Amino acid sequence: MGTVLVLYHSLRGHTARVARAICRGVESAGGRAEMMELKEAVHEGVEWDRYDAVVVGAPVLYGTYDREFLAFVARHRAALDAKPNSFFNVSVVARTPEKARPEGNRYLQKFLELSPWKPRDLKCIAGKVDYPAWRWYEVLMIRMIMKFTHGPTDRHAVIDYTDWQDVEAYGRRVAGLARGGA
Ligand SMILES: Cc1cc2nc3c(=O)[nH]c(=O)nc-3n(C[C@H](O)[C@H](O)[C@H](O)COP(=O)(O)O)c2cc1C
Repeated sequence: MGTVLVLYHSLRGHTARVARAICRGVESAGGRAEMMELKEAVHEGVEWDRYDAVVVGAPVLYGTYDREFLAFVARHRAALDAKPNSFFNVSVVARTPEKARPEGNRYLQKFLELSPWKPRDLKCIAGKVDYPAWRWYEVLMIRMIMKFTHGPTDRHAVIDYTDWQDVEAYGRRVAGLARGGA
């Protein structure tokens, strides 16, 4: 049974939780899964040969992605391309069914424009609004984004939009990639 690497960036921990749910999905399909945070991958390196498939994911931050994350996927494009792979993004806009589809999610399209690595499989995951946990300038910016996208603007709002069952189902799908089933 194949081993899946779930390599992720997370600013405040929600994408880490998503990565863990993906691992649960992989394991429920009989596969093995390992999580690795971007910092570890950058500074300690990745033993690519240990994995049969790689899932890479990051949150959308101010309409784009962490610079170090983008640099990492560009640098390791060949290693990623060499095995079955999938990319997921986490954003609040993906809370609507239309924007939860890769074709309808402009942030996913933006990743495809920015990244020289072109993932074979794509997934959009709805993230978390957590105004009390955010810095004042983040609150200011994100409330503006939410105003434009008809999202929550109540500065006390804490809303987890993630469909955890769907995330686990995604994990089962990538377990299939590791088995060569897609
Ligand atoms: C600084 C910051 C900027 C964000 N910008 C966007 C954005 O442009 N569009 C969006 O849909 N969500 C945006 N979000 C929401 C995040 O994508 C969401 O909260 C996600 O769950 C964060 O994951 P993390 O905890 O792993 O960092 C932003 C969040 C933060 C903290």
